[in-house]
Amino acid sequence: MAKPEGRTITIGITGASGALYAQSVLRLLDADRRVSRVYLIASDAGLRLLSTELNTVAADPKKLPSLLIGSAAKKIEYLPNKDIGASVASGSTLVDAMAVVPCSAGALGAIASGIANDLLTRAADVCLKERRPLVLCLRETPLNRIHLENMLRVHDAGATVMPAMPAFYYGPKTIGDMIEQFAYRVLAQLGLPQEKQYRWKGRKE
Ligand SMILES: Cc1cc2nc3c(=O)[nH]c(=O)nc-3n(C[C@H](O)[C@H](O)[C@H](O)COP(=O)(O)O)c2cc1C
Repeated sequence: MAKPEGRTITIGITGASGALYAQSVLRLLDADRRVSRVYLIASDAGLRLLSTELNTVAADPKKLPSLLIGSAAKKIEYLPNKDIGASVASGSTLVDAMAVVPCSAGALGAIASGIANDLLTRAADVCLKERRPLVLCLRETPLNRIHLENMLRVHDAGATVMPAMPAFYYGPKTIGDMIEQFAYRVLAQLGLPQEKQYRWKGRKE
């Protein structure tokens, strides 16, 4: 079967603080010419988070992508988390990469244990078994032993653990700067490097 022209990316949103990261990543993906399709899956806690942190509640879930990015979403398709028969539940569906952003400790634990009882965790499980990039933007602090062990387990299974930790060495002025720069790095991990990503050039002592 012919592969779609551009990249296909799955984004999972779980109930960890940092809805702004998801919003920024989705905006960049929708605007990126190299991307032809984005599947969006949110857990129940993820939907609650969008309501708490962004005041975004979609009466019609299909409208969630546009509500989230603040303009008509061209490429983002919302897939209900309960729909375990959706396309991305199968490795035969051509998906290039997936990011869970933000990723809760609970979702990390499910993925680390191979529990795939909803679409989000199943899609992540499929990425691991098909050896496709899976980026988990964990947001939790402090971390207990179970979290630390789960991070190692998913790492060893092929995932990239990318904690939602903004940096300061590029001199961000606003929360928006921090969110955007982190989102650029998530896209880079998905194989979509961004021109606007700050790159350290070194500095003389
Ligand atoms: C507003 C809000 C913020 C939360 N923040 C976090 C967080 O930063 N990290 C985390 O691991 N869990 C956080 N939780 C708890 C998770 O949402 C909870 O464990 C949930 O069961 C995770 O389910 P999910 O992985 O299916 O999304 C938060 C919950 C709420 C309501």
